[in-house]
Amino acid sequence: MKNNILLLPGDGVGPEIMTEAVKLINCLNMHKLTDISYEYSDIGSIALDNYNAPLPEITLTKALKADCVLLGAIGTPKHDNNPRELKPEYGLLCLRKALNLYVNVRPILSFEALSNSSSLKSEIISNMDILIVRELIGDIYFGEPRGFNTDSDDVYAYNTMKYSKSEITRIANFAFDAAMRRSKKVTSVDKANVLETSQLWRETVTDIASSNYNEIDLKHMYVDNAAMQLIKDPKQFDVILTSNMFGDILSDEASMLTGSIGMLPSASLSEKYALYEPIHGSAPDIANQGIVNPLAMILSCAMMFEFTFNNKKISDLIKNSVNEVLKNGIMTKDLSTSNHYISTSEMGDKVIESINQSVK
Ligand code: IPM
Ligand code: MG
Repeated sequence: MKNNILLLPGDGVGPEIMTEAVKLINCLNMHKLTDISYEYSDIGSIALDNYNAPLPEITLTKALKADCVLLGAIGTPKHDNNPRELKPEYGLLCLRKALNLYVNVRPILSFEALSNSSSLKSEIISNMDILIVRELIGDIYFGEPRGFNTDSDDVYAYNTMKYSKSEITRIANFAFDAAMRRSKKVTSVDKANVLETSQLWRETVTDIASSNYNEIDLKHMYVDNAAMQLIKDPKQFDVILTSNMFGDILSDEASMLTGSIGMLPSASLSEKYALYEPIHGSAPDIANQGIVNPLAMILSCAMMFEFTFNNKKISDLIKNSVNEVLKNGIMTKDLSTSNHYISTSEMGDKVIESINQSVK
């Protein structure tokens, strides 16, 4: 059956890593392992330039029709000072909301070959396998009211942190189900000593665990402590369940445990839709130099095969090929501890070469 995906290269390094994803998909199609067609659309700064909207209607229409969306990155400094609705990031937030993508899965895995690329000692990070489950369409990101008040003498700005029981329940259920397929351990991260939203979060998560997931070993941790524990002893964690804001911060922190944020893929899911993207941003400072690491994007494709196309075989083929390349000491600039590194497109080619070797 032909599958159709929507490609949103976006801004900065987004188009460069998308080129490598497309090479990978073409390679899989050529081997008749997949039958995927794709089309492109704009989001973020490029969409502001072309349509004066960060999420043009045409992009949303195509996203709603596609089997899933693959996204590069969004944002360029050019639009940083725009009002909120005309910021590139707003396009991504609206897309997440429109597709009801309440689950964001961010696997934090150590790659043996990269143990020297991390700023932590290799024994602290070797064999690390953490799954961050981040709620993605609630919290202070979306809470109303929000805005600026310019009427008072001292101008102020405000946001609302908000969570309902049903929003907490659905993300907690996802995390517990994921943990049941892993080591049955969940750390729920909140700030229940200060915030009401976190108090409700903690109560709800505790109730769900005790009524439906007796086998789960559930721990609660304050976010500040979790930030510290992630550096001190990351292997104490298996599934981390957390809110939108805390998950955003902790996942960037956790990414550095692997050696480079350029390695980390993510999946954003709902019952009906899915979007896959690297967790890194558009990195305009290194765009168009051929040095961005395409592996987070290539691993996002692996997640797409696992979650959307239920094809664990292809997903493993991609992941194993990435591992194989790294094991041979082949690295992009962000991973290399020496002056020897290859370009973005060479890295894409190496992964494809490795796939070609495996399927021939
Ligand atoms: C992420 C990013 C986004 C977020 C930005 C680009 C809106 O940092 O996916 O982690 O804050 O969720
Ligand atoms: Mg982030």
